[in-house]
Amino acid sequence: MHAPFLAPSLLAADHGRLLDGIRAIEAAGLDWVHLDIMDGHFVPNLSFGPQLVKDLRGQTSLFFDVHLMLDNPQFYVKPFAEAGAGLITIHVEPEYDLAETLAQIQQSGCKRGVSLNPGTDVRLLEPYLVSVELVLVMSVQPGFGGQAFRPEVLEKVSWLKDWRTRNGKNFLIEIDGGIDASNARICLARGVDVLVAGSAFFREENRAKLMSVLTL
Ligand code: DX5
Ligand code: ZN
Repeated sequence: MHAPFLAPSLLAADHGRLLDGIRAIEAAGLDWVHLDIMDGHFVPNLSFGPQLVKDLRGQTSLFFDVHLMLDNPQFYVKPFAEAGAGLITIHVEPEYDLAETLAQIQQSGCKRGVSLNPGTDVRLLEPYLVSVELVLVMSVQPGFGGQAFRPEVLEKVSWLKDWRTRNGKNFLIEIDGGIDASNARICLARGVDVLVAGSAFFREENRAKLMSVLTL
């Protein structure tokens, strides 16, 4: 498997100075940025649209890890792929054709991710695990940064890691929500490959501590 790494969530950056956020990620020597896209329906918040992603694309070569928290993600694959996404992750909870949308993501040239909320049974993902490059385990209820990590979701990480071994697959396991220096190591020990961190990365006093976990 790939070495574990960090994908900072730009949601926690100053939205009036997003480019500074991008530069901070680059300066830390990281190569992914996690972009949280919200529709005010699937989650009670709004964030970034395809135009913003496209304009950031012109400013950086960071890999764009696009997390769609949308009721109708099938309508937004093309706009975000054209805006420069490298990976598009969609949720299992809303009512839409998930398999078809994963196929659409692949056809658009992006890597495919599937995600689930803390209250969702991980076994619901099983039919899709052969068709994704990444599984995103939410460790907070999506919608807002700065929430407390929910350790019970680590059971899902163990289940996914075990399933991946038993089935000879190699999707990455990513975790998102409340990640900081106090829980990052526990996540990595359980089998997480990619840590998403918003608040802990963009609050500078926490960044060094968080980054040191990766180099252990
Ligand atoms: C939550 C988002 C997360 C969030 C993480 O809806 O999916 O990516 O920005 O932020 P922190 O690290 O502050 O919990
Ligand atoms: Zn996210």
